[in-house]
Amino acid sequence: MENLHTTYLGLKLRNPLIAGSCGLTNSISNIRELAKKGVGAVVIKSLFEEQIHVEAEKVINNDVGGVSTFNHAPDTILSKRIYDYEEAYSYIYDFAKRNTLGKYLGFLEEAKKSVDIPVIASINCVSNQNWHAFAKRIEGTGVDALELNIYILPSDWRRSGEDNEKIYYEIISEVRNYINLPIAVKTGFYFSSLAQSVKKLSQTGIKGLVLFNRPYNTDIDIDTIGLGHGPIYSTAEEYTHTLRWISILSGHVSCDLCASTGVHDHKAFIKQLLAGATAVQIASAMYKEGFDIIPEILKGTSNWMKKHNFDTVDSFRGKLCKSNLENPAAIERVQFMKLYSGIE
Ligand SMILES: Cc1cc2nc3c(=O)[nH]c(=O)nc-3n(C[C@H](O)[C@H](O)[C@H](O)COP(=O)(O)O)c2cc1C
Repeated sequence: MENLHTTYLGLKLRNPLIAGSCGLTNSISNIRELAKKGVGAVVIKSLFEEQIHVEAEKVINNDVGGVSTFNHAPDTILSKRIYDYEEAYSYIYDFAKRNTLGKYLGFLEEAKKSVDIPVIASINCVSNQNWHAFAKRIEGTGVDALELNIYILPSDWRRSGEDNEKIYYEIISEVRNYINLPIAVKTGFYFSSLAQSVKKLSQTGIKGLVLFNRPYNTDIDIDTIGLGHGPIYSTAEEYTHTLRWISILSGHVSCDLCASTGVHDHKAFIKQLLAGATAVQIASAMYKEGFDIIPEILKGTSNWMKKHNFDTVDSFRGKLCKSNLENPAAIERVQFMKLYSGIE
């Protein structure tokens, strides 16, 4: 049997396939099922920063009902903060009603006790406030690592690129100073010099980078002439963007790289590993195909390894990364010209 063992964030995983943070990792029965189906680790549904503000306001207002905050006039500080981060808003609105920080911590404890694979907690941050206290409490639940989903949409006219990047470093340093858990940072691709920014992030003492968060996009509904949302789930064609960047960054960063977005089958999974990913997360594929996609991906990978005489993941990981190229963009440009000039 091919050996799929991997070390990610310093944790031993039976294989590099990770159930990414999403609504499916928000129940103990699902987490048990995911472990049974064979995932190497699971990332729990995120606790969103805005939920913590809700909690904080609840304490300040002694409002045991909890979510009345969301009904405040839009000119309150909280509402303004939320409307500033439209993507997060739709995710958290319903979730915030049902969940409290205490419940999240209790859930993490239970999740950890329920399975014998690594359990990774997740918090979704949009600012550099208050993270150490919450991170410390998360560490106390016994989970194996913490994924910080830092998503700063560079749409605030008042903030420069440098201002935005500063928030990443402040969040990381605040959390790192208070906990010993391995930390992964899940981030997007809105950096003006992505390669350099990711490299700098990898040098902050974090153990891994999850590339990329898939942005929630708004859309326009021409029937209602109002706002709608873009596709919630990725398609199988979307893996190439992440593949390009894993391939470019692999070998240049000081931490593990975990691929996320568009992995729907064993082929895309293998490609990410060939590009240099330490591990790969899936979310949409589990929604679309059910949890049986997990053994399918693992079986497909084992068969491929057998066919190509690879005994371990390490023996082929990074075989096709671009670490030896000075400027991969120049090579891509030549390929692009060759390909497109042949199409009439
Ligand atoms: C319904 C849904 C809920 C999600 N919730 C979270 C979340 O709470 N935290 C997070 O970091 N990512 C969340 N994600 C993003 C996924 O973890 C993943 O990064 C993204 O969907 C791209 O991967 P995929 O192409 O395999 O779906 C969610 C995705 C979906 C579809």
